[in-house]
Amino acid sequence: MVIQMSEATAVQAVRSLGATASSEQMSTPVPNPWVSEIAPYKGGEGKLDNGMRVLKLSSNENPMGASPRAVEAFRRHADRLGVYPDGSAAALRGAIASVHDIDADRIVCGAGSDEIIGLLCQAFCAPGDEIVHTQYAFAMYRIYALAVGAVPVAAPEQNLHADVDAILACVTAKTKIVFVANPNNPTGTYLPETEIRRLADRLPTNVLLVVDGAYAEYMRADDYEDGFALVEAYPNVVATRTFSKIHGLAALRLGYAYAPAVVVDALNRIRGPFNVNAPALAAGEAAVQDKSYAEACAIQNEVWRDWLAKELRNLGVAVPDGHANFVLPEFGETGQHSAAAADAFLRSSGVIARRMESYGLPGHLRITVGSSSDNVVVARAVAEFMAGA
Ligand SMILES: Cc1ncc(COP(=O)(O)O)c(C=O)c1O
Repeated sequence: MVIQMSEATAVQAVRSLGATASSEQMSTPVPNPWVSEIAPYKGGEGKLDNGMRVLKLSSNENPMGASPRAVEAFRRHADRLGVYPDGSAAALRGAIASVHDIDADRIVCGAGSDEIIGLLCQAFCAPGDEIVHTQYAFAMYRIYALAVGAVPVAAPEQNLHADVDAILACVTAKTKIVFVANPNNPTGTYLPETEIRRLADRLPTNVLLVVDGAYAEYMRADDYEDGFALVEAYPNVVATRTFSKIHGLAALRLGYAYAPAVVVDALNRIRGPFNVNAPALAAGEAAVQDKSYAEACAIQNEVWRDWLAKELRNLGVAVPDGHANFVLPEFGETGQHSAAAADAFLRSSGVIARRMESYGLPGHLRITVGSSSDNVVVARAVAEFMAGA
């Protein structure tokens, strides 16, 4: 028997057959189980629900912004947006090398030092490996460790200071990377040269020591050694830097690693071919060459950070000595002058600071050093808060 069907009926029949088959086999894509463990990074907030004008002091951005030369270089790039960037970032690497007197061939640029941190984890860690970081560390070390199935291990700190012996005690046969931000975010403390060298000396040479210098340019202490000298001295040390802080280019996403040749080779194999955009390359080159602007930013930061810390201490708030571009006042976890209450009061005054509970410091707030007038507003608001019943 031949069954006659109209074209429309036939199409309908085939569709419903397909629908039945696919609903029978339907399953959803499942990410790697370790990915589901990741709590997404929460950046510093920049707005209040009531639309009030705010001082955003939650992300350690540079209140002076970028060097005018960097802004000009960025603008000049506007008529060339149809052209791919130089994937080797040769001009920028050359500028960084000549300013810091380091080897351009051992620099890899990334879309923020965030990208570099992620690439290091991808290149050197497999599921089950371990990544050591300090107890109060930049959140992305843990996130990138988990993203590759590695186990993040937090080394206890002493009084908000990294502890070299505690870090070494966390190192096992499975450890592939140790991350130390120097100076550290969010504590603002640093390991002096003798201690960071002791760490590099004692670490097995198959373990990478990543010295994250996101805030290195703010350091003034005589006993501080930046990561570049360590990279020259040890086969397993990587230094990372960012253009988001002292260079005021956070919006463009630009950072880099200075690393042993074997690490440079690995990162260059797995990074995107054009991972840094062309306006960022142009602005970064101008920014790194404008040494006097960076120095002016560092001086502005030092003066106002120390002023703000002193003002807050005079109000009875404990403020640890910090060396980066923020202060970390301790208000406490409970009571009328708790960190939560201080944060709420500051917000009602139009100041957005950063709560620290996700960093394991629920009694602290991190407040970026702002412009002179920002800092005066912060000090006044904290004074009102502390005076309040
Ligand atoms: C210690 C540390 N490392 C790295 C970064 C990442 O910086 P970026 O990705 O903007 O270069 C930050 C950002 O706040 C940081 O605090």
